[in-house]
Amino acid sequence: MRNKIVAGNWKMNKTMDEAVALTSEIVNMAKDEVSNDAKVILCPPALYLTTIQKYIADAPNFAVAAQNLSDKLSGAFTGEISAPMLQSIGVKYVLIGHSERRQYFNETNAMLAEKVNVALAHDIAPIFCCGESLEQRQNEDYIGFVKNQITESLFHLSAEQMRSVVIAYEPIWAIGTGLTASAEQAQEMHAALRAHLADKYGAEVAEQTSILYGGSVSAASAPELFASADIDGGLVGGASLKSREFTEIIKAR
Ligand code: PGA
Repeated sequence: MRNKIVAGNWKMNKTMDEAVALTSEIVNMAKDEVSNDAKVILCPPALYLTTIQKYIADAPNFAVAAQNLSDKLSGAFTGEISAPMLQSIGVKYVLIGHSERRQYFNETNAMLAEKVNVALAHDIAPIFCCGESLEQRQNEDYIGFVKNQITESLFHLSAEQMRSVVIAYEPIWAIGTGLTASAEQAQEMHAALRAHLADKYGAEVAEQTSILYGGSVSAASAPELFASADIDGGLVGGASLKSREFTEIIKAR
């Protein structure tokens, strides 16, 4: 059985006080809702990771993730955060390849492959984001495009390493737009990605890899999305900033 995961990507939002309040509210409302085959992963700005870790310490099956990490291990890279630094504070997950990183910070598939490597080498599980633009969906082989993102950034891994990776399919046209992919559209892609993993790593690894959907997930859209056979939870942006709505999404998984 693969893990069901609901992750909240806070992006560059919330002050420290607001972040603590949000976390406390979510933990209070949701901590009894998360069974052992499930996980809630909060992705605050890196500045707050250690603080948020304290506030989730008593909530079983809660974890934090960093939103990004450097592909370098140390040195003169002002403003960057490395895998050894995240490991040294006990962070177990990291978002890699979010479309905003690809778009605004020019992260390429090759660079993301390096980030995946440094994360895994430091016992940090990548939540690897992939997804096509609206133009690609309308004019191109959009499934082939997303499969290629996975091929170029993940398929150098061993099967053993691949077992630690979570995939998040996030169509760019659905991120922050209020336009959710339909459950059918998401399921089509998730099934194709799982088949792609099976071709490379075999059915067993493909079956145990959690593939999350992201892109305007809300309390209203989550139940149908999460009920789809190959959708193993969600990576939630805007709706993860509201404790009540995020809790409803956690309950839907
Ligand atoms: P959204 O963001 O839920 O606000 O669309 C999702 C994401 O970017 O991870």
